[in-house]
Amino acid sequence: MGTATINLDGNALELETVEGSEGEKALDIKPLRKQTGYITLDPGYLNTGSCKSDITFINGEKGILRYRGYPIEQLAEQSSFSEVSYLLTEGKLPTKSEAEEFEHLLTRHSLVHEDLKRMFQAFPPNAHPMAILSSVCCALSTFYQDQYDPLNPEQVKINTIRMLAKLPTIAAYSYKQSMGQAFIYPDNKLSYCGRLLKMLFGYRTEQYEVDEDVEKALDKLLILHADHEQNCSTTTVRIVGSSQANLFASISAGICALWGPLHGGANQKVLEMLDTIHQDGDDIDKYVALAHDKSSNFRLMGFGHRVYKNFDPRAKILGEACETVLKKLKVNDPLLNVARKLEERALSDDYFKQRNLYPNVDFYSGIIYRALGIPTNMFTVMFALGRLPGWIAQWKESSAHGTPIGRPRQVYTGPNTRDYVPMAKR
Ligand code: ACO
Repeated sequence: MGTATINLDGNALELETVEGSEGEKALDIKPLRKQTGYITLDPGYLNTGSCKSDITFINGEKGILRYRGYPIEQLAEQSSFSEVSYLLTEGKLPTKSEAEEFEHLLTRHSLVHEDLKRMFQAFPPNAHPMAILSSVCCALSTFYQDQYDPLNPEQVKINTIRMLAKLPTIAAYSYKQSMGQAFIYPDNKLSYCGRLLKMLFGYRTEQYEVDEDVEKALDKLLILHADHEQNCSTTTVRIVGSSQANLFASISAGICALWGPLHGGANQKVLEMLDTIHQDGDDIDKYVALAHDKSSNFRLMGFGHRVYKNFDPRAKILGEACETVLKKLKVNDPLLNVARKLEERALSDDYFKQRNLYPNVDFYSGIIYRALGIPTNMFTVMFALGRLPGWIAQWKESSAHGTPIGRPRQVYTGPNTRDYVPMAKR
C-alpha cells in the first residue's frame, strides 16, 4: 500500500493507494470530501470501484475471466454448473461428499409452495417471463419471513439452497403459464439442467427423455454466465442487499436490472436483430452502416462491452460451442450464417476497431438457446438462472464484509433557492 498526493485549492491531501491480488490499483478516496469538500464525479461508475472482492477476476484488455482464480475455459470444459455454484457461493471447490450433499440439497428444495403457483395465473398470457421471474422470486420471501436475516449464517445457507433450487422451477412455470400448459414438477432423478429441461419441455401425458447433448450445452451456458464481477445487475443486488434487504428481494431486483436490453436483455435483442437482417436479404452492410450512424440510435446488439476491450472470452467459447451444438443437434440455422458474416464484417470495420467493439457473451448464446428449443423471450431468463450463484456469492460477500449502505452523492445542477409562486401569479 502506498500514498498519492492530490493538490486541491492549494492544499495537499495524501490518499492511500490499494492494490489487488492481480496488481489492479485503486485510490482510496474516502477522506476526500471530509478533508477538501470535493466528491468524485463518475456517472455510470466507469472508473469507480465499489468494493474489494475475492470472487471473480476480469482483465478486459487481455480477455481474461476467472471465478475464484479458476480460468473460465477450464471450468466450462471440466466442471458442472452445480459445482461452479458451490465454488462461487462457498469460495472453494467441493470435495466429493460436499458436492454430493450440495446436489442432494438442490434436488430436495426444488419444489415451490403450492400456494405460490396461484400467482402465475394473475399475469396476462403474454407477460414477459422476466417480469414473472422477478415478481415470484420476491414473493418467495413471504414464505420464509422468520428466516431471512442476512446476518445469520444458517439462514443465509438455507436460503442460498432455496434460491438455487427453486428459481429454475419458477422460470419453467412462467414459461408453461405463457404456453397455457400444465406445470411439470421437478424430477428428483435428473440433474440440475435435466430437471429444468423436463419442467420446460415435458408434458404430463408423456415420458420425457433428456437429450444428453442439450443438457451438457445448457450446463456450459449456465457456467459461462455464472458471475461477472460488478456489472449492472450484480451491483443492484449488492446495493439492495446493503440495506439488509433479504436475499430473495435482492435477487429479484437483480433480475429486473438484468432484463434491460443493454445488459442481459441483449441476448433476445441479438436474435431479433439477426432475424431482421435475415428477413432483409442478409444485407450486412446496411446494418453495419446503420450502426455507424448515431442519429439512427441503432446498435449492433451483442457487440461491445463496458469492461472487455478485447474478445469476451465467453463469446470465444460460445462461438466454438455454437458450431458443435448445432452440428450435434442437426440444426441448420440461417441466423448462424448471418451472425458469422456480421462478426467478420464488424471485426474488420474501422468504426468497430477504433472503439474496440468485439462480440460479447450475448452474441452467440441466443443462437445456442434457439437450437436447444428455448423460446426467444426465455433467453434472458436463462441468463438469470446462470447468473444466480454469482449474485448470491456477491450478496453474501457484501454482507460478510459489512459493506455500508450504498448511497452515492451527486453534483446538484438545479435552480438555486427561490420563492414559491402562488398559482394565480404563474
Ligand atoms: N454498436 C454500435 N456502436 C456501439 C456499440 C454497438 N453495439 N457499442 C458501443 N458503441 C459505440 C458508442 O456509440 C460509442 O461511440 P462514440 O465513442 O462515437 O460515442 C462507443 O462505442 C463507446 O460506447 P459506450 O456506450 O460509451 O460504451 P459503454 O461501455 O458505456 O457500453 C454497452 C457498453 C452498453 C455494452 C454497449 O457496447 C452496447 O450498447 N452494446 C450493445 C448491447 C449489448 O450487446 N449489451 C450486452 C452487454 S454484455 C452483458 O450485459 C452480458
